[in-house]
Amino acid sequence: MDQHTPRELSFDEWDEANYPRPAVTDFDRVVEKAISRRGFLGGVVVFGSAAACMGAGSLLAPVGARAMSGTSRFAFEPVPAATDHTVHVPQGYSWRPLVRWGEPLFAGVADLDHATGSDAAHAERAFGENTDGMELFVIGGRQVIAVNHEYANRKVNLPNRQDGVPANAGDVLKLQNVQGVAVFEIAEGADGWSVVTDSPLNRRITHNTPMRIAGPAAGHDLMRTAADPDGVKALGTLNNCGSGKTPWGTYLTCEENFNGYFGSTDAAFQPTGEMTRYGIGNDGWGYDYHKFDARFDISKNPTEPNRHGWVVEIDPSDPGSVPVKRTALGRFKHENAAVVIARDGRVVVYMGDDERGEFIYRYVSNGVHVPGGDTSALLDEGKLYAAKFLDDGSGQWIELNGETTGGMSPAEIAIHSRIAASKVGATTMDRPEWVAVNPVAIEAYCCLTNNTRRGVKTNAGGDEMPVGGPNPRAENQYGQIVRWYPANDDHADPAFTWDLFVMAGNPKVKEGPYAGSSNINEGNMFNSPDAAVFDSTGLLWIQTDGEDSNEGDFAGQGNNQMLAGDPATGRIERFLTGPLGCEVTGLCWSADRRTMFVGIQHPAAPFPDGEGRLPRSAIIAIRRDDGAPVG
Ligand code: FEO
Ligand code: CA
Ligand code: CA
Ligand code: CA
Repeated sequence: MDQHTPRELSFDEWDEANYPRPAVTDFDRVVEKAISRRGFLGGVVVFGSAAACMGAGSLLAPVGARAMSGTSRFAFEPVPAATDHTVHVPQGYSWRPLVRWGEPLFAGVADLDHATGSDAAHAERAFGENTDGMELFVIGGRQVIAVNHEYANRKVNLPNRQDGVPANAGDVLKLQNVQGVAVFEIAEGADGWSVVTDSPLNRRITHNTPMRIAGPAAGHDLMRTAADPDGVKALGTLNNCGSGKTPWGTYLTCEENFNGYFGSTDAAFQPTGEMTRYGIGNDGWGYDYHKFDARFDISKNPTEPNRHGWVVEIDPSDPGSVPVKRTALGRFKHENAAVVIARDGRVVVYMGDDERGEFIYRYVSNGVHVPGGDTSALLDEGKLYAAKFLDDGSGQWIELNGETTGGMSPAEIAIHSRIAASKVGATTMDRPEWVAVNPVAIEAYCCLTNNTRRGVKTNAGGDEMPVGGPNPRAENQYGQIVRWYPANDDHADPAFTWDLFVMAGNPKVKEGPYAGSSNINEGNMFNSPDAAVFDSTGLLWIQTDGEDSNEGDFAGQGNNQMLAGDPATGRIERFLTGPLGCEVTGLCWSADRRTMFVGIQHPAAPFPDGEGRLPRSAIIAIRRDDGAPVG
């Protein structure tokens, strides 16, 4: 998530400036703890001590063992770090853009006007900004991509406005229309893949598209507004970050930093404690919706923010279908939704809440999935859990219910999941981003992107963020990937064991744990793992959203990138480097697995159209030159 114009404030810096939090933790005590932890991690045994606690193998699989035995799973020569304005892929692979911000998704629509960034009506018929999570569906023989358009880059999207500040309601509507979700058919011709602009399946969903609210929060007082007194119909899906896909062929879009769109025209308005926990305040993040669209003015519509922050289910096979906000999956800054079927057929959804010191959640349906059967209640009726990781390598999913949360109702638990998870003492994590479930082993991975306040401050709810467990480094600027193994090989089991697949770091400038775990070297280093997606062979693809200055603690890491990791060996190799300024996010494959589609979000100019043109987020298509499958 970097909700800022490239090269301005980082998320951490912005958040700290706007929502400063007191350093309630005693500094000396924390430093002492961090140092002793460093000593623990920095020795010869690095992860050995923790592994001994687990009583089973090493917390990190022996790196390179499989490679040395000649059975490398990497069908490419890794690429070096890059600092330029283009995409690099390994020799023997080629890339080309599939679609860029402002390109038409419907016949008769013009391409982007680089002088103005086009208008609201155009945006509603074109590929949106900030491409993010995406999934590919095969519908009646057609290949269809559903993709998120996470946020707006105001200076880029409103190039004709001073500093990208919306000047009127039309500007706000345009911002609302460059975001949301796009669904469109693609086809492969002699020149590669392109959008089928006259497909009946193409659709744009924006910040104003009507949605149904389902699950425990539907109809609750906290969900009612003047425009929707029943609390069952919302407008728009906001800040669509990561994605998910159900076994029944629907798309899950995940609402992340929805708080940033809300503000108050009344400076005296006092946000509630619940609003503050979710980062909702009077100023907003500069979108200025509240100044031109009263729905986003919390002094006039204080319950409207409760109608956002959900996982939304979209049926890509029916462009007329009403998207559904599935409140049983909780309300927080949703990163993605990783769906897997448990041993007995129940639906399990793993989800991260991307903010410093927030939690990892799991939903388990009451009913079981029967292929071809009724799936309408599977994401409405179930239990929500938050993860507790213990230092000994074990962990538990703690159910959020009336008993464990001190009497919160099911609707309250859904709407204020963060507060419920704080009450059960879930583990405060280093910004949980994507969760990925291995299709060939019973295990799941979550990117913990970074947390520069680890060991220094509390989370937004006042919960401590101690150094330890899966968050082993104070002021963690590099991030790590935690992995868990469900007890009894069952994703619905209440218990699990865990280890760290990798701790990112910089062996060029750092020592000890800040150099990274033993599977990090000068040839594959990166920071801020964000998206994680498994391919069909069980290779884990890791996409980064980090500091790309290539200086100081980040020297040698270059631009954001995509790497592949082998769960069996821990080996990680760099497959792709993105253009300067970008985040690499979103990954899916063509039906024949011969093309991978990768999202390049918020690149800096001149990518992709050259000097003097607006930079454009884009999905690129990557193929092997010999046409072999790529995942
Ligand atoms: Fe939208 Fe946390 O990334
Ligand atoms: Ca982002
Ligand atoms: Ca991120
Ligand atoms: Ca992300």
